[in-house]
Amino acid sequence: MDNDKHRLVILVGSVREGRFGPVVAQWVAEQAGAHGAFDVDVVDLAAYDVPLTLPAESPKYAGDAYPRPAGMRGLTEALSAADAFVIVTPEYNHSYPASLKAAIDWHFTQWTAKPVAFVSYGGAAGGRHAVLHLENVLTELHAVTVRDGLAFPNYFTAWQDGRPLDPEAAGYAKTLLDQLSWWTAVLRAGREAAPYPS
Ligand SMILES: Cc1cc2nc3c(=O)[nH]c(=O)nc-3n(C[C@H](O)[C@H](O)[C@H](O)COP(=O)(O)O)c2cc1C
Repeated sequence: MDNDKHRLVILVGSVREGRFGPVVAQWVAEQAGAHGAFDVDVVDLAAYDVPLTLPAESPKYAGDAYPRPAGMRGLTEALSAADAFVIVTPEYNHSYPASLKAAIDWHFTQWTAKPVAFVSYGGAAGGRHAVLHLENVLTELHAVTVRDGLAFPNYFTAWQDGRPLDPEAAGYAKTLLDQLSWWTAVLRAGREAAPYPS
């Protein structure tokens, strides 16, 4: 790994059978790799055990002692190591999937003082309701959400052969990644300079 590069986790938020999420995540990973500022790790929630039943205590205070399932370890390690996140999310009933909420709720400090950008897709709204809800939730975890996201309305006609048809999409992705990189550098320096006062 290149220590000068930011460790970026691209999180695939949907775990549904026949899901489209991995297609979007793979394209985002290509854009992030080409951008140059990031070491990219695509983390697929479907690969981990993320139950809905939580332990009695809060992950905010338990630290490494928080009793997570063995099948979640790789996910926790990836989130802990990340300097930045792109969450790839569809829209389910005007919000984001329960799989994503469960993964968020099993963690706390892994998100703190780190930047999160969003790439969404769905029907007419392109997943914007999902992103609005995620911004609200991640603020509670002391994450910093990036203003410019990427939304793909009616993804079923807007994508072909694993790529968006919109010729502007790569440019929008670069803007998102530029902002994410700026925030990553600032927050990484801040975390190294002093503990975040959460
Ligand atoms: C339970 C469920 C609810 C959905 N609700 C919405 C919705 O509110 N708005 C929307 O634009 N699309 C909605 N959709 C369509 C999804 O955005 C679309 O199926 C998308 O492919 C889901 O992402 P995935 O394939 O990665 O699971 C819904 C799909 C499901 C399965």
